[in-house]
Amino acid sequence: MRVLVVGSGAREHALCLALGADPAVTALVCAPGNAGTAMVAEQRPLAVGDPAAVAALAVDTRADLVVIGPEGPLVAGAADAVRAAGIACFGPSAAAARLEGSKAFAKDVMTAAGVPTAGAAVCSTPAEVAAALDRFGPPYVVKDDGLAAGKGVVVTADRAAALAHAAGCGTVLVEEFLDGPEVSLFCVTDGVAVVPLLPAQDFKRVGDGDTGPNTGGMGAYAPLPWAPPDLVDDVLTRVVRPTLAELAGRGTPFAGLLYVGLALGSAGPRVVEFNARFGDPETQVVLPLLETPLAGLLHAAATGTLGAHPPVRWRDGAAVTVVLAAAGYPGAPRGGDVVGGADLPGVLHAGTRRRGDGAVVAAGGRVLSVVAVADSLAEARDGAYALLDKVSLDGGHARTDIALPAVLGEVRVPERRGPAGSG
Ligand code: AMP
Ligand code: GLY
Repeated sequence: MRVLVVGSGAREHALCLALGADPAVTALVCAPGNAGTAMVAEQRPLAVGDPAAVAALAVDTRADLVVIGPEGPLVAGAADAVRAAGIACFGPSAAAARLEGSKAFAKDVMTAAGVPTAGAAVCSTPAEVAAALDRFGPPYVVKDDGLAAGKGVVVTADRAAALAHAAGCGTVLVEEFLDGPEVSLFCVTDGVAVVPLLPAQDFKRVGDGDTGPNTGGMGAYAPLPWAPPDLVDDVLTRVVRPTLAELAGRGTPFAGLLYVGLALGSAGPRVVEFNARFGDPETQVVLPLLETPLAGLLHAAATGTLGAHPPVRWRDGAAVTVVLAAAGYPGAPRGGDVVGGADLPGVLHAGTRRRGDGAVVAAGGRVLSVVAVADSLAEARDGAYALLDKVSLDGGHARTDIALPAVLGEVRVPERRGPAGSG
């Protein structure tokens, strides 16, 4: 099987490693890629936002399967264009990717499907925003309606800051605050059959102790030792299947990766967000634990045959990833600093490029992601930080507490009050 991976982050580096390890894969191309994917796949230039260019590259590389990493191309219709060219594509149509592309659309689907989520108001004027903030009360949650690379959400006790964020966006959602630990559950689906992957947790705030602004994600671990044993079944029953049925009923079935971001609060799991693709950095910890060959799994989802795929197998143990970000991130990141240790095993590249002299330099906000797999979460965490110590980047910053609360047994799921899923 010839596989084309579209994208250029650490997620795509992780996808390339897992796909390249599948014995069925005979050729692997990554476009546009980065200095890390260049070590494991053929690189091709690509304007990822142009669906016709993605489809043309799929034809040109004689791909049997295209795997689209980021949300931008999906929302723009890249998967539709690839399928129209007669090539199997892992990734939802533009119509189904609106689940990520518009938070208002996602709320509408959830409401229609009876999926538990935060109450929300769609607001387009300052007066509407102010009224909604006062209706829900603090802490205030204000979300840019459109795509914002994980940085469109402000959660704050400061009403003026909430108003200011809304003023800088167009349409926003003002939401009820959801408490409880967050979980990311990836579901591979062909629109009907669903294969859940291991639940993971990511760390969205830039600073230790969940302080500072939201980012695309500063680290992650999987699996979750503290998760209730029925978590995955519960989310499949109450969130994933009703959402897929609702989209299918609207004539826009979702096939690809449904990323369910949940908060496990006292009212049970509630959806914080949907994404239409593998999450970053969670992918970097979920895929190394997957023993089932990845290309076969994604090809089955892309061709409507997932129901006939054998059950997925996982290795025991745990994985931890820590993101190293450039100076300035999540504001304007500084580019061009040399990255030391970039070629070490376990270092996944995100925003990197190789200079003419062979040095790897920073070329993005999140520069790389170190990953360690071990028999226990504590060992995986130690391994990830030991690897990070071998990597250098002037001005680079990383959180020091990724997976720490879980290792210390400090993550608590609030006891459920009231009927499951109410509220
Ligand atoms: P989103 O882009 O919707 O994933 O939001 C980014 C992050 O903001 C989430 O992972 C949460 O940490 C936080 N967040 C979003 N919505 C809420 C909410 N309703 N209540 C509490 N935190 C939220
Ligand atoms: N880890 C969050 C995201 O991929 O959006």
